[in-house]
Amino acid sequence: MSLDLDSRRRAMLAEMGLKLFEPPGVPGGDEAASHEPARPAGLKPATGGAVHVPAPMSIAREAAPESVSSRPGVGLMGWDALEQAVAACRACRLCEGRRNAVFGVGDRQADWLIVGEAPGENEDLQGEPFVGQDGKLLDNMLKALGLDRHHKVYIANALKCRPPGNRNPEPQEVALCEPFLRRQVELLQPKIILAMGRFAVQSLLGSADPIGKLRGRAHQYMGVPVIVTFHPAYLLRNLPDKAKAWADLCLAQEVMRAQPAAGAPAGR
Ligand code: URA
Repeated sequence: MSLDLDSRRRAMLAEMGLKLFEPPGVPGGDEAASHEPARPAGLKPATGGAVHVPAPMSIAREAAPESVSSRPGVGLMGWDALEQAVAACRACRLCEGRRNAVFGVGDRQADWLIVGEAPGENEDLQGEPFVGQDGKLLDNMLKALGLDRHHKVYIANALKCRPPGNRNPEPQEVALCEPFLRRQVELLQPKIILAMGRFAVQSLLGSADPIGKLRGRAHQYMGVPVIVTFHPAYLLRNLPDKAKAWADLCLAQEVMRAQPAAGAPAGR
């Protein structure tokens, strides 16, 4: 398969610290290392990595996980009511330390839904997801696809409140917050979901498998294809894996483009 990337995309790949080589191969799925984001993550200078673009893959059908919480009413809420419910939520103890619940940001008619893990300190302060160094990398990754966080993209987290000291979210916390994410998906009806990191995967797919095992094919959440990739904070610490992340983005774009247009039967 040959690549047909225009100069803008090449420039953005360079911005991500990636080089292009051809012919590309299918990315490996054999990462044994932890793919959890570093906390806190420091921005490191970009170094070159090689870009592999996967061949088209078939969509693997997987059932959406059941939440441990029924959360009556959430499934009927519109955007504003949902945002207010998140801001007022006291379902778990994360509410005790939050300065802001972080609902999500972006285009409510988005094709792309990016799902991260949980707010960190900056996000908790500003009330917006991915505003730190990992957010800058995410913005660059989106730019490489000709996207930005306000157009055709919506960004949300699996957890809406910051875990104290940026500790890992607990399974119960992920499960209690899942109905909010689920409703965001229902309202958005995105064409593609990009699940970044282990806790996004846990919430959307109910899977504890490593990222390396889940990459390279489309999963399903409520009928929407889900592509699994590394968390940006992990990529800041593991620069060679940026090439794999780029392959994941290319796969996501390919799967997204295969979805019915807005207004078609599955549209909004
Ligand atoms: N990491 C995430 O997963 N989400 C954020 O909003 C910020 C950092």
